[in-house]
Amino acid sequence: MERRFDPAGPLRGALRPPPDKSISHRAAIVAAMGEEETAIDRFLDAADTRSTLAAIAALGAEVDTNSGADGTLAVNVRGVGLQGAREAAVDVGNAGTLLRILPGWLAGQPRGTWTLDGDDSIRRRPVDRVAEPLLAMGAEVSCRDGRLPPLRVEARPLQGIEYQLPVASAQVKSCVLLAGLLAEGRTTVIEPVSSRDHTERMLAAAGVEVERSEREGASAVAVQPAQRLEPGAIPIPGDPSSAAFALVAAVLVPGSAMRITGVCMNPTRTGFLSILRRMGAELETEEDRGAGVEPTGRIIARHSALAGTEIGGQEVPLAIDELPLLALAACFAEGETVIRDAAELRHKESDRIASVAGALNAIGGKVEPTTDGMVIRGTGGVPGGTIDSRGDHRLAMLGAIAGLASREGVRVRGFDAAGVSYPRFEDDLRSLLS
Ligand code: S3P
Repeated sequence: MERRFDPAGPLRGALRPPPDKSISHRAAIVAAMGEEETAIDRFLDAADTRSTLAAIAALGAEVDTNSGADGTLAVNVRGVGLQGAREAAVDVGNAGTLLRILPGWLAGQPRGTWTLDGDDSIRRRPVDRVAEPLLAMGAEVSCRDGRLPPLRVEARPLQGIEYQLPVASAQVKSCVLLAGLLAEGRTTVIEPVSSRDHTERMLAAAGVEVERSEREGASAVAVQPAQRLEPGAIPIPGDPSSAAFALVAAVLVPGSAMRITGVCMNPTRTGFLSILRRMGAELETEEDRGAGVEPTGRIIARHSALAGTEIGGQEVPLAIDELPLLALAACFAEGETVIRDAAELRHKESDRIASVAGALNAIGGKVEPTTDGMVIRGTGGVPGGTIDSRGDHRLAMLGAIAGLASREGVRVRGFDAAGVSYPRFEDDLRSLLS
């Protein structure tokens, strides 16, 4: 599907972003691991999280969904218990988070074999990063060419380990922590820098003993084996990564001033706000009453003049999914922006160093890819052209924002990829323009 986004604006009014994708995946999996009924309020209704609901149903959970008028789902899950996952072939679709988190739970089951596979893009995404720690715990896992899906998991007794993550990854951390619930003894994951902590928060709320500490500048999280999980009710806050598209559009399009409400303000997710502020963006934030264990709030964004910046180190995992948008913003800034320490971008839904640099250059940006990031020469704006999403939802939506802020408009090929995380994206965006 192709869509054209012409220069338009200003953006005005308010947006409640769709429910958070990361938290929705985790809520479904943790609910399936429980024994009682778990009510998930405002579950994300999108292709990726539908894959997770289908996966837990295949594993034996009873899943009941009701569509809300605002494109969210009320989901009731009767779980199978920590040790009750049924054998299945799991189709993860395009969902990398499901692919990487679920094996942790399956590896420690008392019996059974599972295969996890998905679409063409998922088949290019490495799973050795989860196979390695699971093997160290005594799991039986194998994958194609030692690193790619399909991933096969066979139930085995697991031992707790202390695992030092080579690069910060919330998916790998979550996988090891779930396996730790079924292992003998304590399981510790040490991250070089902190990544999103939704799993830790959700497990603690479900009654797991979760201990967090600092170790020589690194962050460590440990779990004890669990007998049962009691997640209770799980409310899902708005997704900051989805909100970031309209927010960046407001910063780039002259005359804009808009409000984002009900968005997750977990500090492990809001790194892009600090970076945008450093670039000169006028953003006001205010926390409100939160959604369960996650802080929430509102953000007011206004059109602002931006300056280039350096992005690297600790802040990279805290803004990993927003780096493509920050690269777009950098094209509109005065001066140079350097993104480094972000080689992980190469392992997302597309190789986001190559695909983002390629897309921005195709619309007149001045972007040079590097091994672990990119260098962007800000020229105050982009003329326009055509962007191909390459099946990557974030690239499709980036193309739309680039079009609104461009001088001549942007055509986005493969725009339907947006439905992976944000099916109502185009409607929401257009509602802010009217
Ligand atoms: C996610 C973690 C990040 C992020 C992805 C979602 C998660 O990936 O890029 O979109 O839900 O845990 P990594 O864990 O590979 O960094």
